[in-house]
Parts: sequence; structure tokens; C-alpha cells
Amino acid sequence: MPSAVSTPATRADGSLALLHETPIRRLILEDLPACLRLAQNRQWLAEEQKWRFLFQVGQVYGLDDLEGELAATTVLTSYGSALAVIGMVLVAARYNRQGLGRRLMQHALDAAGGVPVALYATEAGRPLYEKLGFRTLRTTTTHVRHCSTQLVAARANLVRPATPADSAAILHLDAQVTGTNRQVVLHHLFQFAEHVWVLEYNRVIRGYAAAWRNVEQVVIGPVVAPDAAGAQQLVAAAGSTLGEGEWLRLEVDARHPALGAWAVQHGLQPTFTTSLMLQGAEALPGNRAQIFAPIMLALD
Ligand SMILES: CC(C)(COP(=O)(O)OP(=O)(O)OC[C@H]1O[C@@H](n2cnc3c(N)ncnc32)[C@H](O)[C@@H]1OP(=O)(O)O)[C@@H](O)C(=O)NCCC(=O)NCCS
Repeated sequence: MPSAVSTPATRADGSLALLHETPIRRLILEDLPACLRLAQNRQWLAEEQKWRFLFQVGQVYGLDDLEGELAATTVLTSYGSALAVIGMVLVAARYNRQGLGRRLMQHALDAAGGVPVALYATEAGRPLYEKLGFRTLRTTTTHVRHCSTQLVAARANLVRPATPADSAAILHLDAQVTGTNRQVVLHHLFQFAEHVWVLEYNRVIRGYAAAWRNVEQVVIGPVVAPDAAGAQQLVAAAGSTLGEGEWLRLEVDARHPALGAWAVQHGLQPTFTTSLMLQGAEALPGNRAQIFAPIMLALD
């Protein structure tokens, strides 16, 4: 009589077939611990605060495996009718290259409803996105620095902490620069960020930046400025809030080599590069030359 216990190979095949039929579901905050376990399974950090923020601003999707663990996730964030962004595309290592990433991505693209979709791709993710019709626009380099001395920029007196009275001007500037409506995301970012700074001259707000905490790092993003000098002033101001020994992280868009060079001069070492990719349009909306750093790689 054949054994009732299947071999590992048949068990894996059977599980996978069932997994392909399991519906993708919208995750809720209670799923956060499982999201963190999945991230750690792929050697990503357990970025609890960042996930909490993403649960507030985006739609988090996931797929449960037969053991009740999350097999895969993705987050879709919509910016009105002009753009949506996808982030946190993760498939548990044990299900690698078995079609789950494609399935989650297709679900998020369908949920986006036909608007152009952007994302920042790791090298591991880029082949999958290319197969789904995404095209690389340019790269972004992540710089990190262990703080021991203050960052210094010329004319730093043009930068000051933002106040609630600046919100309308920041939202107006952001809409012009991104060509999208990021009001919901920015509203939550202003709560989530530890600091928000504005660059102001002649009584007009020309730029802004936020600094938010992510595990042991403080991330400066977004950085929106009229030029590299303004971006440096904002980064220096945000960096000035860090204590001795803290880690600073900045994602510099490759179209701004002057900020990248300044960052390196100030000890912000390049660590890895991601590709900004777009599907469904030739170019991103807005006047993106003024975006020096995204809010975070999961968001644009
Ligand atoms: C990147 C990742 C999400 C891919 O998920 P996956 O479930 O393994 O991908 P799929 O099996 O759905 O692959 C879909 C397609 O992309 C291709 N593909 C996937 N990974 C690939 C790779 N590393 N190299 C070449 N092709 C690849 C597959 O061949 C497949 O093509 P096909 O459908 O025509 O056969 C997964 O490897 C992962 O979580 N990596 C770690 C985290 C990460 O970097 N995420 C991306 C963040 S931007």
C-alpha cells in the first residue's frame, strides 16, 4: 500500500498549485507582524514604522500560504488620476521564481485602474517589471552616513522648520512639481516625519524636505528644491537634527549629480542603486527636475 505521507517534492508541488488558487487579499494593520517576518525572510529590515505609514496611505495586498504565513506582499499608492506607485514587492524566498511576484504585481496593476504606474526596482525585481512592460527612466542611489559631524551648506539661513501655516504652500508646490495629488500622503507624512523643513526666500516657499525615522536610520525624503544649492541647504538642515552616532540615509536621483557629489564630500557613502521605472506613460507627470530625493523608495 502506498504511504499516506507524500514526498517533499509532491508536497511542494501540491502546496504551490493551491497557492496559485489562493485569493490575493487586502491586508490590514493586524497583518503587520507577518509583513515584517516576510521582509526579514528577504534580508530586508523589519521597518515597522514605515509599514504603518504605508498601511495609512496605500493599499497593502498579500497572499497567505498554507501554513498561514504571508507568501508575498505589495503596496499600491494612488496619486489621483495621474499616477500610482507600487512598492514593497516581496515574495518569501521559499516561493522564489514560481510566479507569485508576477501575480501580485498584476493584481496591483489591475487595482491601479489603468493609470500610469511607477516604482523603484531593485536589481532582483527589474526583470519581472520589464516583463510587465515597465521601462527604466533613470537610477537613484542610496547614500548613508554615520553622523559624527554636522553637515554644512552655504546660505543655510534660507531654511527654517515648517509650521502648520506652511501646509497649503507645501501642497501647492508639491502638486506643481509632481503633477499629481499627493495630499493624503503628505498629510500623513507631516504626522509621521520627525521634522519638516522649508526653503523660503522673498516670502515664497521654494522647497521642502522631511526627515523620518526608519529602524536605526533617519531618512531625508522627500527633498524638493529649485536647484542643487537649495537641496543641499535642506539636507544640511534635516541632518543637523541627528545625534552623534545616528545613521542618515538619502536617496539621490541620478539626474542631480551635484547633490550626489556634495553628499559624498560630506561623508554620505553610496551603498546601492535602484531603477525608477514607469509603465503606461512615456514620462512622469509634473516638473520632476525639482525632486532631488523621493519620500521613500516604496512611494516616489
Ligand atoms: C523580485 C521578486 C519579487 C520576484 O518574485 P518572484 O515570485 O520570484 O517572480 P516571478 O516568479 O513571479 O517571476 C516573474 C517573471 O520574472 C522573471 N524573473 C523573476 N526574477 C528574475 C530574476 N532574478 N532574473 C530573471 N528573471 C526573473 C521570471 O522568469 C518570470 O518570468 P515568466 O513569468 O515569463 O516566467 C522576489 O525575488 C523577491 O521578493 N526578491 C527580494 C525582494 C526584492 O528585491 N523585491 C523587489 C523590490 S523592487
